[in-house]
Amino acid sequence: MDKEQLISRLNWFYSLELNQVDLYKSQSKAFENEYAGLVFEQLSSIEQGHVENIGIKIKELGEKPTTIGDVLSPFIGHIAGKILGSRDLPEVLKINTMIEQKAMKDYKGLIEDLKNSDYGSGELIKILQNNFIDENLHTEWFKTKLSELQTVEFSLIP
Ligand SMILES: [Fe+2]
Ligand SMILES: [Fe+2]
Repeated sequence: MDKEQLISRLNWFYSLELNQVDLYKSQSKAFENEYAGLVFEQLSSIEQGHVENIGIKIKELGEKPTTIGDVLSPFIGHIAGKILGSRDLPEVLKINTMIEQKAMKDYKGLIEDLKNSDYGSGELIKILQNNFIDENLHTEWFKTKLSELQTVEFSLIP
């Protein structure tokens, strides 16, 4: 991996994280009066932290962080429009999980590649690992919440 390739991969994360900031912000409004809304608001600010830590790394490589636009739609396709502002929490949680898992998969790929690259500074790898761990924790909350909702759905509570 050369420097250009690393910058372009970091820009992909920069865009993905920005997309997630917006996504969770809109979800925090859609679920304003619920605990989930508070969680989405907090997730949005954690993703903002990722935008910033990736942005700093791009700058250290001598480039300006550049968004490549909407990177979510290509892999969640037509569902993307549907969930923006959706009030269907189980659906939102499922799609959020898909997005977080995509982020985790790509972070893992970059971490592996960096271990064999000239640009794989320990510091950069650490940042990517920490972002990965955050996405992992987000995924776990989504799964827990989804299973809680499904438990209620399939039980005979009056
Ligand atoms: Fe993130
Ligand atoms: Fe996340």
